[in-house]
Order: sequence, then structure tokens, then C-alpha cells
Amino acid sequence: MKLVTGFIALAVVIALFQIVPADNLSGANGAGEACRSCHAGKKALTLGIKDVYAPLDKLPYRHPPMEQSCSPCHIITGLKSSKTWEVSSSGAHKETIFLLTGLSLDRDYALELVLKDERGNRLPPYRAQVIPAEITDIVNDDGKAPRIMEPGLNDAKRTTFIEATVRWLTDKPSNFMVEYGATVKYGERSSDERAFSNEHFARLTGLKSNTPYHYRITSRDIFGNTSVSEDLTVDPMDALNRKGKAWSGNERGDKAVRPEIVAVNLFKAKRSSDVLLRYIASGPVKASLSITEPSEMDKHGFGLTPARYSTIDVCVKCHSQGASHPVGVRSKGPNTRIPPDLPTIEGGMMTCVTCHNPHGGDKEHLGRMDVKKDLCEACHRT
Ligand code: HEC
Ligand code: HEC
Ligand code: HEC
Ligand code: HEC
Ligand code: HEC
Repeated sequence: MKLVTGFIALAVVIALFQIVPADNLSGANGAGEACRSCHAGKKALTLGIKDVYAPLDKLPYRHPPMEQSCSPCHIITGLKSSKTWEVSSSGAHKETIFLLTGLSLDRDYALELVLKDERGNRLPPYRAQVIPAEITDIVNDDGKAPRIMEPGLNDAKRTTFIEATVRWLTDKPSNFMVEYGATVKYGERSSDERAFSNEHFARLTGLKSNTPYHYRITSRDIFGNTSVSEDLTVDPMDALNRKGKAWSGNERGDKAVRPEIVAVNLFKAKRSSDVLLRYIASGPVKASLSITEPSEMDKHGFGLTPARYSTIDVCVKCHSQGASHPVGVRSKGPNTRIPPDLPTIEGGMMTCVTCHNPHGGDKEHLGRMDVKKDLCEACHRT
């Protein structure tokens, strides 16, 4: 995606997903209404596939599962369903870059960026569909580590323990990791690795009142250029006793004017396949970005079940295999020959469906042949 400037009205409009749960595909009132829309009548003819339904009504022997749902034998459910996750900024900023890791290159992600101004008003959301492989905007590394500036205590509040917020600035968008503890061995961590900005707020939790704390800041830019501060100290009591006003953001805006999005763009950092999203707003805004990975639904829901599953495994879920003819076997020699009109899988392997018609048939026991007469001789020569 190229740079998107101007207002959100111009932003790419989200394409609504056509997600149909697999169970809907098979229809509640039997025999898979949704499957019927393609696998029956004229439509089947157009698609060049068999009309599965036409013979059903005429069959003297019907297989009961057919009346309920096609899914158990054909459709894989519960795999690769859609999922959504969120990243948000730690303060109100005019600019933030979000790192979107773990995306598949070829899938179509829905992004929604929700921005709120300092009074909590929501701006119109920015939405886009993005396929990571199609992002051509690559940003080069300048090789410079971010400079850590003005670190200090921002505010503190007392709950059971004390929670203090430290704040600092960097000269370029960076993420952070803060180590802290009662001694220079630190031991605790506070981090935000997904949001890069120029102003940072890290919450140090579980502090006690009678001791100053040590902390050390690590700031990293989107290319991995890293700065580590010297050991710093903070006394939470200073903040609790202090009257002065805490920072809530560096870039103050004119509160009478609602901030607007100036630009949103998607790009990659050189030598990384991760996607980055940057917004620039006319005033400070708190941002949260949600990413939705689509499910892998196609016309067959989550996909057709493998042959072995639909011809053996699913059958023995409902029927005991006990007395039945061996399945999963191949012919051992010239005395056994499987005729080409009886279906096998994996080039000659016997399944339940080799002898039984899974949908229904005109013979007893859903046999493909008369089970009393012809069947054994069809393969075994005596
Ligand atoms: C949008 C049209 C459409 C819908 C809806 C649909 N199918 Fe299909 N189906 C097809 C087409 C076209 C094929 C041919 C193979 C292909 O292109 O994937 C097919 C192939 C199949 C096959 C494999 C056939 C073979 O010979 O191997 C099975 C089994 C199947 N569908 C079952 C179902 C079931 C069960 C449902 C309902 C849950 C369903 N289909 C819904 C269009 C559809
Ligand atoms: C008891 C399991 C079972 C049920 C229920 C079932 N099928 Fe099948 N179906 C099979 C098997 C087994 C095959 C053949 C082998 C294969 O495709 O793996 C098959 C074959 C098919 C084929 C390929 C063409 C053909 O007739 O050989 C289509 C299309 C199909 N089924 C659609 C459906 C539809 C639509 C429903 C629901 C109305 C349904 N099936 C219900 C087991 C089942
Ligand atoms: C070589 C062909 C063949 C294969 C393979 C086969 N069957 Fe059968 N099946 C038969 C015949 C023949 C009968 C009738 C037996 C009888 O009348 O005693 C039968 C009967 C049945 C019956 C009805 C009688 C009963 O025992 O409840 C069920 C259910 C059945 N088979 C399920 C299966 C399943 C499930 C599989 C796969 C695990 C399977 N069959 C594999 C030939 C086969
Ligand atoms: C969801 C459960 C279910 C699944 C899955 C299922 N069946 Fe059945 N099947 C039934 C029921 C119920 C009946 C009717 C009652 C009975 O005869 O056991 C039946 C009947 C049959 C019969 C006729 C039995 C007779 O006495 O004439 C055969 C043969 C059969 N199934 C084979 C299969 C095969 C082969 C598969 C796999 C492709 C399969 N079934 C999958 C539930 C199931
Ligand atoms: C679709 C072909 C086919 C049909 C129909 C068929 N069989 Fe088989 N049968 C095989 C195959 C393949 C084997 C596995 C090894 C071999 O014998 O070549 C086998 C194995 C057997 C075995 C076990 C042999 C062993 O070494 O474990 C027996 C018993 C058997 N069949 C009996 C029957 C009876 C009884 C019938 C009729 C109800 C029958 N078969 C129908 C193909 C078939």
C-alpha cells in the first residue's frame, strides 16, 4: 500500500468478510442447503460437477447422516478460524509506528486504527485491507541509535504497593524495555515492543515506599538500532509528595481543535518482513490498532476432509469396524483384483467406501454390488 494522505474518508474501505461457519454450510434443516446451492441442479451442471442430490430422493436405501449434515464426512471444522489482536500506544502522540509481527505474507488482513484525542473523543477510524507481500514501501536504515533524553519520574500512585511512571524522550521513534528493581541487579521489567514513538511512559509496578529504585532504559528503533541508558534512580515518594503537574504527553495540542489524521502509511524496514504502520496526526492522540487475520474459509468451509478420513475414519466413529472386511489394505497378489469401477484411495487401497455407497444406494446395506452374491467374487478369485 502506498502512502495514504488526507482524510480517513479516503481510506480503503474494509471489504466485509464472507465468513460462513461450516455448520451453516451444511444447513440446519438437513441435507446441506448451502452445499445444494452448487452441488445440485443447473448450477452443478454449469460448474461441471455431479448433481449429488438428484439421485437422493429416488434411492431406496439412504444413509441417515445424509439427512442431517454433509459436514461430518466432508468438511474440516475448527481449523484456521479468523482471529483478532490489538496493539496500543502507551501515551497520546502525534506520531506512532506499530510493529505487526507474525503475519503470513499472502493473507489479507483487516486493520482498524482507532484514535482518541486527549479528551477521549474518538476520531473516525482508519481501516484498510493489507496483504503483506504487496507492500512495496521499504524504508532504509540510517544506522543511528535513538538518543535517550530527559528521563525522569512522571507520576506515582498508591494502591497496595506503589506504581510509578517514568518518562523520557527519544530523537526518533523507538520502542522500549525498562529494567528496574531495588538494586542495580534490577530483576523486574516493563516493556512496549510493538509501538514506536518519540515520547515514552513506562509503568513500574509493585514498588515499596521506603526505598529509591534503580532503573535502566533500553530504546530500540524499527531497524534494531539500540541505546541503553546508564543506571538511573527514582524515589516513588518524591512523586507521591509532589504537588506539581505530571506530563501526560509531550506534544500538547490546541484542545479546542480536534486532531485529525494527516497520514497513515504501511511499510517495511529493510531486511525485515514485518509490517509497520505509521500514523501522523495534527495533535496528540492515543491509538489502538486491531489486526484481523481472516479464516481460511472457501466454498468448502475450512476445506474438504482427506480421503482416508472421509472413507474410513469417519465411518468407524459411528460403526464398529469389528466384523467388517479389512480396510486400509491393498491386493497381495493375482488372486485378489479390485475392479476399476470400485473406488479405492492412494492408488489401490481398500476403504469402507470401496464396498459401500456413502450417500445411499439401491442395494441392501448400501452395497455397491449385491452383497449376497457378487461382492466377494468381484475381487477374490477362487
Ligand atoms: C460455491 C459452490 C460450492 C459450494 C457451496 C459447495 N461446493 Fe463442493 N465443490 C464445488 C466445486 C466447483 C467442486 C469441484 C472441485 C473444485 O473445484 O474444488 C466441488 C467439489 C466437492 C467435492 C469433491 C468432489 C470430488 O469429486 O472429489 C466434495 C466432496 C464437495 N464438493 C462437497 C461439498 C459439500 C459437503 C458442500 C457443503 C458443505 C459443498 N461441497 C459446497 C463447489 C461448491
Ligand atoms: C457418511 C459420510 C458422508 C456424508 C454424510 C456425505 N458424504 Fe459425500 N461422499 C462421501 C464419500 C466417502 C465420498 C466419496 C469419496 C470421497 O470423496 O472422499 C463422497 C463423495 C461426494 C461427492 C463427490 C461426487 C460423488 O458423488 O462421488 C460430492 C460432491 C459429495 N460427496 C457431496 C456431499 C453432499 C452435498 C453431502 C450432503 C448432502 C454429502 N456428500 C454427505 C461421504 C459422505
Ligand atoms: C469388501 C467389502 C466391504 C468392505 C471393505 C466393508 N464392508 Fe461393510 N459390509 C460388507 C458386506 C458384504 C456386508 C453385509 C454383511 C452381512 O450381511 O453380514 C456389510 C455390512 C456392513 C454394515 C451393516 C451390518 C452391520 O454389521 O452392522 C455396516 C454398518 C458396515 N458394513 C460398515 C462398514 C464399515 C464402517 C466399513 C469400513 C470400516 C466396511 N463396512 C467395510 C462389505 C464390506
Ligand atoms: C454420524 C454417524 C454415521 C457415520 C459417520 C456413518 N454412518 Fe453409516 N449409518 C449410520 C446410521 C445411524 C445408520 C442406520 C442405522 C444402522 O444401520 O446402523 C447407518 C447405516 C449404514 C449402513 C447400512 C447398515 C445396514 O444395516 O444396512 C452402512 C453400510 C453404513 N452405514 C456404512 C457407513 C460407511 C461406509 C460410512 C463412512 C463413509 C458411514 N456409514 C458413516 C450412521 C453413520
Ligand atoms: C473390492 C475388492 C474386494 C472385495 C469385494 C472383497 N475383498 Fe476380501 N480382500 C480384498 C483385498 C484387497 C484383501 C487384502 C489382501 C489380499 O487378499 O489380496 C482382502 C482380504 C480378505 C480377507 C483376509 C485375508 C487376509 O489375509 O487377511 C478375507 C477373509 C476376505 N478378504 C474375505 C472377503 C469376503 C468374504 C468378501 C465378500 C463379502 C470379500 N473379501 C470381498 C479385496 C476384496
